[in-house]
Parts: sequence; C-alpha cells; structure tokens
Amino acid sequence: MKNIQFALWKKYCLLVYLVAVFSISAASAQQEPTGIFLTWKEDPLTSMVVDWHLESSTSEVLHVQEQGTDTWAQHQSEVNPFPHSERKIHRVALSGLKPGTSYSIKFGDRNKEYYFNTMPADIAKESIRIAIGGDSMHDQAFMEKTNTQVAKFDPHFAVIGGDLAYANGDSTNVGRWYQWFDAVKNTLIREDGRIIPLILGIGNHEVRKAVFEEGEEIIFNDENRAKMSPFYYGLFAFPGQPGYGVLDFGKYFSFFLLDSDHSNPIIGPQTDWFKRELSIRDDVTQIITMHHVPAYPSVRDFNGTTQARVREHWLPLIEKAGVKLVFENHDHAYKRTFPIKNNQVDKDGVVFIGDGSWGTRPREVHDPETTWYLDKAISIRAFTLVTLQGSSFNIISVDEDGNVIDSYPPNPLLK
Ligand SMILES: [Fe+2]
Repeated sequence: MKNIQFALWKKYCLLVYLVAVFSISAASAQQEPTGIFLTWKEDPLTSMVVDWHLESSTSEVLHVQEQGTDTWAQHQSEVNPFPHSERKIHRVALSGLKPGTSYSIKFGDRNKEYYFNTMPADIAKESIRIAIGGDSMHDQAFMEKTNTQVAKFDPHFAVIGGDLAYANGDSTNVGRWYQWFDAVKNTLIREDGRIIPLILGIGNHEVRKAVFEEGEEIIFNDENRAKMSPFYYGLFAFPGQPGYGVLDFGKYFSFFLLDSDHSNPIIGPQTDWFKRELSIRDDVTQIITMHHVPAYPSVRDFNGTTQARVREHWLPLIEKAGVKLVFENHDHAYKRTFPIKNNQVDKDGVVFIGDGSWGTRPREVHDPETTWYLDKAISIRAFTLVTLQGSSFNIISVDEDGNVIDSYPPNPLLK
C-alpha cells in the first residue's frame, strides 16, 4: 500500500514539475521585447546596432538573414543594464553588411520577423530621405502622432535632436522612457516590419544638474557625464561618450551631433574636436550638423548665453566647412531662417531649420516680419524631411496632420 502511495506521490510531483517548467518556458518564449531600437555607431552603409529590451538578463540570439538568401546567421546578444530599471538592453552590433541591402531579423526564439535596410552605396543616382526634428515627448500621444506622419514618408532613418523623453536624467522618471520606447515601437516600425533607425542628440531634458553639490565645479569626464545623464549614455550606442559625434555615410554624407552646453561645454575640447573633424572632411559631398539650443531662435531670446556661444564658437567653423543646412531644436515651434553668413542674410550662407516641435506643446513665435533672420516661423508640431541626392538637397516640413507647411529651396508646387 505504501509503495502505491509513494508511486502516486512521485507521479504528482513530476506533474507539478512539468507544469511549472512548461509555464516558465511558455512565459519566457512569449515575452515580446518591451523596446526595439536600431541605430549606428559605424558606417551606416555596412553596419547596424540592434537593441531589444527584455526583463531577462539571459543572453539571446539575434537571427539575421540577408533577404533573397535562405540562410540565417546567429549573433549572441551583449546584455547591458537599462538605467534605473529591471529591464535589460540586449544588443548586437552588426558589421560587414552589404550597402543598400535588406536584412530580416528575429529576436531569440520569437517567430515574428522584422527587417532593416543598410544605407545605399552612393547617392549619385538615388536619393535618401531623412526625417529630422527635436523635442519628441511632452506627451506620448503627440510623439506617436508625428511619428505616424514620419513613417508614411518611409525615411531611410530619423533624427531627434535632444529633449527626448523629458526624463531630466531622473531615476524616478524611468516610466517616461518606457513610454518613449513604446511610441517608437508602436509607430516607427512600418506595417511590413521595417524598423526605422534613429539617431539621437542630447538636450537639456536629458540632464540632471542636481547630482552635484551647490557651487561644486563640474569636471566633464565620462563618469560625471553618465551621472548627469544616465539614460542618454546608458540607453543608446551612438554617440555614447563623450556625448557628441559624427557618422560618416561612406564619402557622400557626414552627420555631426553636438552637445550645446548640456553634458559638455561648448567651449573647450568639444569645439576643438569639431574643428578638427570638419577639417578632415573636405572630400565629403554633403555635411549636416545638429545641436539642441538654437543659434537663431524662433521663440527664445536671441541674446541668450548658449545661443550666443553657438554663434560665436561653432558657426564660423560651419561656414568655413561649406555646410548649407544646420538643424536646431529646443524652442518648441517650427522655423526656417534665411541663408545666413557672418551673422547676416547672405545667399551663400547656412540655413537653420528646427525648432524642436516633434512632440511638444508649441510656443508663440517671434514675428518673421520683424525678426531679421526668420523666413518662416509657425507655432505648430512638425518635422522636416530632408532629401539628399548627389551634392543637392531639398527639404519639406510636415505638421502632425501630414500637411506640408514649408519647403526649401522654394518649390512653387507647394506654395
Ligand atoms: Fe530643450
């Protein structure tokens, strides 16, 4: 009798064990990534950094297949902490890819397929489209509405130039980053599974100055920058430390991201770096630069300290390098300046476009009729679509409802 009871007990235990194992594996197999994020830190013609966020810290495999072939390659994820969160960032940095090629990807054991495109080998004959703006999320609904318009234009990639989740580097605001990644996942992955890569700049709302004592002199090193801005440095592969950087798209395009007095001073090593890096790109066909605080503000005071520093320290370098387009943010409105050189309107000058109204509540703008540098300023949520081909460019700017609100060079068909 005892033997029978013991045998039944063993069967019961086995059953409980099997149910538990099945439940755990089913749950982990079903867990979709909470965030999916693509960017670059090397040449976008041949590389891609793929991030997916999970609760699990167990490394997973990224399955990658060049479309049109029938073999899948496996890449093991590096697992990094998601700052101030139980989540983990699973990351694979792919290199040695073919330009202008589509790659399917699958995360771990999940069946769902996504894909991305590497950038084309050259843009002499085919154009590329870049969606650019800033100040993305006062409100997740605002961000998703603009993202939806961005995705309709099927840009090769998108750029948001600072003030991303408005988390202010504060651990208690980690939920705002969850919302931000939700917005990206909900609206910057197209219906056919194509993930739109993102390049992200730093703004004042990425930074928490309160981590230092009152009156303490801030030393700008990696440790202090990460302390001031844990999410910006912890979440994204590019630019990483020291918070500014340049991406070279072969020899046809270089994109500079600068830090306008947020986790790096304008004056000092950053400007030295900028000058040096611009000077060695004489042979690059097109260069665009971006920073957060506008040299030519549509809302704020022209004589503000940071605005003046950008004009004094960066604009001479930008003009000398022959840059024609600069993107600025921070003011929560749409603006485009006249071409400007030496701080006056000049047809051979630089056009400044922004001003950070991707997903913010718009502010009242200076009147273009009485503001010498503004050709256009509108209190509206918008982004700009830049098209580059060969050595030429054009832009249209689009509001959150999909209306084209501006174009440059002027397009008579859009007037
Ligand atoms: Fe800002």
